[in-house]
Amino acid sequence: MASFTERYHELTKYNPHTIDKLGPVHWDRQPPAFKAISSKVKIDLLSRLQSVMDHLEEGPQVSASPEAGLENIARLLFFTLGLTARLGDQSGGDYFLRAAPSAGGLYPTEIYVAARNQSGLPDGLYHYHSLKSALIPVWQGSFWGDLKHYFLGHPGVEASGLIFIFTGLYGRSAWRYKERAYRRILLDTGHAVGNLLEACRYADLDHSLMGGFVDAGLEELLFLTPNEEFPLLGVAVGPAGTIPSLSGQYPGEPPAEAIRHLTQGDPMQVQQNASERILSEKPRPLVEGACGGPAFAAPKDFNPLKTILRRRSCRKFSGASITRGQAAEMLAFAFRDSGSAWCLASGHLEFHLVALNVEGLEAGVYRLRNGALEQDPKRTGDFRTETYTMCLGQDLAAECAFALVHSSDLARLAEAYGDRGYRYACMDAGLVGERLNLWAVHRNLGSSGIGGYYDDQANELLEIPLTHGILYITLVGVPEEE
Ligand SMILES: Cc1cc2nc3c(=O)[nH]c(=O)nc-3n(C[C@H](O)[C@H](O)[C@H](O)COP(=O)(O)O)c2cc1C
Repeated sequence: MASFTERYHELTKYNPHTIDKLGPVHWDRQPPAFKAISSKVKIDLLSRLQSVMDHLEEGPQVSASPEAGLENIARLLFFTLGLTARLGDQSGGDYFLRAAPSAGGLYPTEIYVAARNQSGLPDGLYHYHSLKSALIPVWQGSFWGDLKHYFLGHPGVEASGLIFIFTGLYGRSAWRYKERAYRRILLDTGHAVGNLLEACRYADLDHSLMGGFVDAGLEELLFLTPNEEFPLLGVAVGPAGTIPSLSGQYPGEPPAEAIRHLTQGDPMQVQQNASERILSEKPRPLVEGACGGPAFAAPKDFNPLKTILRRRSCRKFSGASITRGQAAEMLAFAFRDSGSAWCLASGHLEFHLVALNVEGLEAGVYRLRNGALEQDPKRTGDFRTETYTMCLGQDLAAECAFALVHSSDLARLAEAYGDRGYRYACMDAGLVGERLNLWAVHRNLGSSGIGGYYDDQANELLEIPLTHGILYITLVGVPEEE
């Protein structure tokens, strides 16, 4: 195997013969769901959200004016990863659900904000504390020179005054999911980014996804604990027409070079992150590509903010069918060209739809091309049992209408982007998953991400070679009435 990615993916597959050997989950070892606050200063966002909530019904709000600064930031953060539901936990405490879904509800994704010239907010770097609904200063002052440098001169940095930096907290997921946690952290982050991009679009804001950066530089700037919190993505945001939308990402180091920088003895997923790093600050060419399918005219009643507020993962499908038209519309929304580039590893993801109960569509496996179903099925037949078994026997999989399986040819991916391609592709899969979720909620259907599946069984079902890694599964169906 040429890349570390192929090895990591292979060794973190679930397999019916070894799944019992993963060991027990130690519930008493779960790390806190929120970061401790080290600063006495916090910038309140809650008061800013009130007017956002009061105007949700009023259609798109043009918030590109510089005066909208902190209110904009409050809105974007809340609809990306804010707390949207409160449940009790077993010990009588509070347990919160958030705007974006998360494998096991562990929420390993954190967000930092770099701001300059934003009204109501001194220039600086901040951590978003979703529980407190506040920005916690990391540094105050201007860091644009450092950011330009660390983002390898990406034009999005120069053009914007607002950058969201997504990080993953490894331990928050690894205590439960062990070596497979990193996969879920990337998927979770992709879901959150999906929300951010919808919220940007709704506010007439441009965005540029910046996956290429000198990892160690951002870690230092944000005071991230080495081997514990990893920067994963920067998103530059600004008024419409101000942010260049590049349809490409910087590659990482070539796999043979990356592998030389691994530290023996680190957990395999920490090594995976290490192999994805960009080490050298020298300029590098973007790997170009385009995302998804044609434009899609969302109906006027589609309000992504209201949809995100209502979004929940479906916990039980009724087993009823959906129509081929509903499925096609959902895919058209999920893969739509929405003006600015919205994916990272363009052209490297493949999607198959396993139709179990879709009226007007013969049951079977269909390939997607540019976000639309191919006319003829690749396989026909009732694959409900296979889908259920593949998803570790989760009832959701037996009762859904279809499963969308996200995959990538890992060798080709690593050839294009080095091991960093894995990060890009898994975040893309999460992002597509979130677009499906939002459309499902909008149409009163149900959906759920599935991070627990037997990898090789999925390859078998789709009849694709084992060199194609299965990155994620999204189930869609009719939710059971409560
Ligand atoms: C990457 C990912 C993997 C997930 N895997 C599963 C799964 O295997 N089974 C399941 O029932 N739910 C799964 N979920 C759904 C989560 O359990 C759900 O998002 C979480 O409980 C929070 O609830 P909410 O989505 O309603 O806010 C997954 C979600 C994500 C984002």
